[in-house]
Amino acid sequence: MEGQSDSRTVRAYAKINLGLRIIERREDGYHNLLTVFHRIALYDEIVLRRGGEIEVESDDPALPGGESNLCSKAASALRRATGYGGGMCCTLRKKIPMGGGLGGGSTDAAAVLAELPLLWGTPVDEALLQSLALQLGSDVPYFLGNGSAVAEGRGAELTYFVLDVPYAILVCHPNIHVSTSWAYSRITPRPRPALDMRELLTAGMQDPRLLREELMNDFEDPVFAAHAAIRAVKEHMMHEGALFALMSGSGAAVFGLFSTVEEAAAAGRHFDRQGYRTFITPPHFQPVLDARTPTA
Ligand code: C5P
Repeated sequence: MEGQSDSRTVRAYAKINLGLRIIERREDGYHNLLTVFHRIALYDEIVLRRGGEIEVESDDPALPGGESNLCSKAASALRRATGYGGGMCCTLRKKIPMGGGLGGGSTDAAAVLAELPLLWGTPVDEALLQSLALQLGSDVPYFLGNGSAVAEGRGAELTYFVLDVPYAILVCHPNIHVSTSWAYSRITPRPRPALDMRELLTAGMQDPRLLREELMNDFEDPVFAAHAAIRAVKEHMMHEGALFALMSGSGAAVFGLFSTVEEAAAAGRHFDRQGYRTFITPPHFQPVLDARTPTA
């Protein structure tokens, strides 16, 4: 991050879900879930400048700037909450594919929530920031903190921890858009499993067999049934030597853990030839995030 008095440039990292279970439907129409969020080495770059109005521009033609953009909504919510009289100009350099289950819109919105109070000089109480984040989306609160996190409830009951992934993570987005609300509508919730996700993941990083046996994503069945191409991505990764592979969020991105960057790259080339987008995160990757709550 570069800090200047009238401009801030930040990286907003993408996440994957290391396992995702849908536990029950709630009275408010959302679902209680159990997942682990983990950041990968893929980020959008966001330039924030002070301005009179709230303006958002993006270099991705598929992503509208303007009021419907989640960054714009984040800034409006902050302005209402702080009573600040000015605005911001936000420039988004998008690299995280949209509709991928990688949290692209959510991480951008969280970066605005975390950074704008510093630019405006209007400190915001942590609890208020959390509640503004949840109003913007169920996985926005995660991106306000540093580290990986077990998430429960709607996704905002977070227990942060440091997870070292000693593998190369290959993420493949097969250019299919999966609607999150459609995916939820296809799920039959199941009771909470007797799993300590943090323990499972920590042990599973030493012994990936545990991950293959215990870690699942409840969205895979309905999404794979509707999109055979997404299932094929997972199967190809396992065929190419992934120690573990899973769809992220409600799709369409799939990730695989490989022993080395070279193996991940070799598997990735097959997908590149199909016109899919691939991203590799090196082993032991931990992003450094400024203006975020330190991991407990
Ligand atoms: O909160 P977010 O905007 O990410 O949610 C998108 C859609 O996903 C919601 O409209 C809802 O249908 C579904 N959802 C849910 N339970 C959650 C998170 C999302 O049912 N915990």
